[in-house]
Amino acid sequence: MCGIVGYVGRPKSLEVLLGGLRRLEYRGYDSAGVAIITEEGDLVTRKRAGKLAVLVDDLAAEALTDGSTGIGHTRWATHGGPTDGNAHPHLSRDGKLALIHNGIIENFAELKAELLADGYTFESETDTEVAAKLLGREYEAGGGLAAALGRVVVRLEGAFTLLALHRDEPLVVVGARRNSPLVIGLGEGENFLGSDVAAFVEHTQRAVAIGQDQIVTITPDTVTVTDFFGTEVQPTEFQVSWDASAAEKGGWSSFMAKEISEQPEAVANTLRTRIHDDHVVLPDLAGLEESLVGIDRIVIIACGTASYAGMLGKYALEKWARIPVEVQLSHEFRYSEPVLSPTTLVVSISQSGETMDTLMAVKYAIEAGAKTLSICNTQGATIARESDAVIYTHAGPEVAVASTKAFVAQIAALYLFGLHLAEVRGTLSPEATKEALDELSSIPEKLEQVLLTKERIQELAKWMSDSRAVLFLGRHVGYPVALEGALKLKELAYIHAEGFAAGELKHGPIALIEPGQPVFVVVPSPRDPNSLHAKVVSNIQEIRARGARILAIAEQGDASVLPFADEVIPIPLAGALFEPLLAVVPLQIFAMELATAKGLDVDQPRNLAKSVTVE
Ligand code: AGP
Repeated sequence: MCGIVGYVGRPKSLEVLLGGLRRLEYRGYDSAGVAIITEEGDLVTRKRAGKLAVLVDDLAAEALTDGSTGIGHTRWATHGGPTDGNAHPHLSRDGKLALIHNGIIENFAELKAELLADGYTFESETDTEVAAKLLGREYEAGGGLAAALGRVVVRLEGAFTLLALHRDEPLVVVGARRNSPLVIGLGEGENFLGSDVAAFVEHTQRAVAIGQDQIVTITPDTVTVTDFFGTEVQPTEFQVSWDASAAEKGGWSSFMAKEISEQPEAVANTLRTRIHDDHVVLPDLAGLEESLVGIDRIVIIACGTASYAGMLGKYALEKWARIPVEVQLSHEFRYSEPVLSPTTLVVSISQSGETMDTLMAVKYAIEAGAKTLSICNTQGATIARESDAVIYTHAGPEVAVASTKAFVAQIAALYLFGLHLAEVRGTLSPEATKEALDELSSIPEKLEQVLLTKERIQELAKWMSDSRAVLFLGRHVGYPVALEGALKLKELAYIHAEGFAAGELKHGPIALIEPGQPVFVVVPSPRDPNSLHAKVVSNIQEIRARGARILAIAEQGDASVLPFADEVIPIPLAGALFEPLLAVVPLQIFAMELATAKGLDVDQPRNLAKSVTVE
């Protein structure tokens, strides 16, 4: 949601801002705009509803004077539709100050009423314009831009990242954040601000994450970070571990196609350096290690795809570490008055590390005295910084809105944690640990094999492109895979899709089955010790008898499903807990190919944002 870029340095702001906004496009947006202080000291802006290309075409048709200081924004509409007028930047009453915003200012109506009473008028329906007008008024009261911003942000409720510039301070951009991301990029004679490092990684890999309730001021040669009241703080610099080329399509038809293909590497990188001599080594847990022995309960919190990774984590943690685990959607968690104590470990899972629902749930857990661990893919993200410890997944930048490689990396990280916790608690024999680690280490190679099924699935997807509804069934660890398969199809192909626990079928969903209804079934291995395979094959027969078209994802060589399935997509042999890492891939490919066959944008599906930074 909303991408933010700020730049101070050389007279090339427009190029930096548009390049940064292009790299932030993946966040999801519906309008774009820039504000620049020209070398002559004028403040110029341009903003347009629609994709960035609309703004770029507009700038080509009628050039905007460039300058050394600028801010750029992609807006995901909240207050007011995606129109030119509602797009950011918004200006102060005197037109000398421009401001952009990510988040929601919850008390904007009250602040707007105050400004209206003071004779102010508004051109947009946004909460952002209220902040711009307020900041303009505070600026007039003196003390400079950063001090004025400090006086404004203490009055704001909600979540926000704000960037502003003023023509009377031509080589300055100021920013502030609360519960919404903002990162500094450090250059030579130039500095950057961005919603995430993608905004400036083509210029610098030196970055600084700004803490909660902090204000930053950048000039070409200085970076100053303070709290909201002007007291200076010392932020920590970090090196971005990937370069600009990692966030490029590199010849693939879409970021999603590229990211699906990167899954073997994403898992391998997440495991790398963390397995030694048949033990899991997680220095990442330093902030938590001493508490781990006393933990008696785990609550996993996450949203969407990350919550399905959490469901798989539950199976693994309970089996290996013999500890009770529950999985809750972050947005439901804190409203359910959860019972938490210092011996509860709350594990949050978030690719972006900025999902507002999950961040708020983490804060709730911290306030309730629980221990917190996050599993996160984005260095320096807010959720990671708030937690007692973080296990980073090393999936590399995930640009497509639909999560793919981050999902398998999250499962790998959860399994590493589960095996480590089992060792701490003494609940798993060294032989069983070794067997599980060998299984985990073999996943990257097996993923390569699954990717070879792509062409066959592409044919299937083309053939099914006019499907009106698709169902997905799975049992045990196959159930979260079914849910994920359905979510992928909904978000990419806009087709009604539902995932069910196969055992639940007879309790209602079987009524949906009519002749020709496509149903994907995640079939457990026939070697499964719990005889789940036989139960799933029975479920297949039940729905086939009612006319369903069966698309089975089954272990290579499993002949038992052949007589009942219309299509069988084989996956390599793996232990039960590890099958989901493989079985999910054909479903990701299916959703992507079906959306492609329908002519849809698979990287930026309608209405969705990559990073959901509002509640
Ligand atoms: C995945 O395809 C979705 N776009 C979405 O469900 C996502 O997984 C969810 O919003 C959580 O995001 P996070 O991992 O960045 O917290």
